[in-house]
Amino acid sequence: MERQKKQNTYTKIISVTSGKGGVGKTNIVCNLAYCFASMGKRVMIMDADLSLGNVSVVMGLFPKYNISQVIYGDRQLKDIIMTDPNGIMVLPASSGVSELSNLSESQKITLMSRFDEFAGVLDGSGQSVDILLIDTGAGISSNVLYFNIAASEIFVVVTPEPTSITDAYALIKVLSMKYSEKYFYIIINNVRSEREAKEVYKHLSLVSDKFLKVTLNYLGHILNDDNISRSVIMQKPALSIFPDSKASECIKKIAYGILSRKDSKTSNGNVQFFLKKLLMSF
Ligand SMILES: Nc1ncnc2c1ncn2[C@@H]1O[C@H](COP(=O)(O)OP(=O)(O)O)[C@@H](O)[C@H]1O
Ligand SMILES: [Mg+2]
Repeated sequence: MERQKKQNTYTKIISVTSGKGGVGKTNIVCNLAYCFASMGKRVMIMDADLSLGNVSVVMGLFPKYNISQVIYGDRQLKDIIMTDPNGIMVLPASSGVSELSNLSESQKITLMSRFDEFAGVLDGSGQSVDILLIDTGAGISSNVLYFNIAASEIFVVVTPEPTSITDAYALIKVLSMKYSEKYFYIIINNVRSEREAKEVYKHLSLVSDKFLKVTLNYLGHILNDDNISRSVIMQKPALSIFPDSKASECIKKIAYGILSRKDSKTSNGNVQFFLKKLLMSF
């Protein structure tokens, strides 16, 4: 029993990020979460996009509180975390992200102990989070960078637009040169064909190989599909309402790939360790 508890505290901590905004991060996060949950995994999404935090909109949730009330108020994490009908937990953190940089040491400790209490609550019920997906903002601001370096795996979302590729390169460059991140997983979104995705990936890896010492891993592509925007309007993950659509099929394939992958060197961490690493950066 003890051993089982220990094993359960390991969490796959994935940041989903991009250089350019509007490339599909939030939809990818919510749909991957849905897919993992339907495979029996316990999933939490952290909405860390300071400028355009909208995980709850896509998930059809209406959070009353956010992480600020944990930092400054007397709320506990379990009060602010929302759970969707599929059991996906959503931590609405975005509105508190800018405040993370102003925290005193004692406030950081308070926040960390709130996470410890929360993990305790989960362990107490015999369940902990298997996968934490972090929806970061776009760009190379310190907020975005800190969430990425605290995560164990970084998924960079790119579309075929040249600006998206250039900005992804800029993000990878900063993360590798300034923060020694060497491994990046790439998702090519909004493509017309797999071939187009492979071309975008080739382009990105050519410049990265030439100028940076990084390893890029191709996770997969997602086809352009109007069902994505339809699902956003209906405030449900596309996978839940259009499970057989083109985009859903692609996302399922990516999700299976993520769970069956053996190559990840640091795929496991735990939520408390992640948070400590994050708060130390701020
Ligand atoms: N594969 C896709 N096919 C069609 N539209 C997409 C696809 N992925 C994302 N979109 C659309 O792109 C827009 C931005 O997506 P979003 O997930 O909010 O991006 P981000 O979180 O990176 O800002 C949304 O309007 C969404 O409907
Ligand atoms: Mg978003």
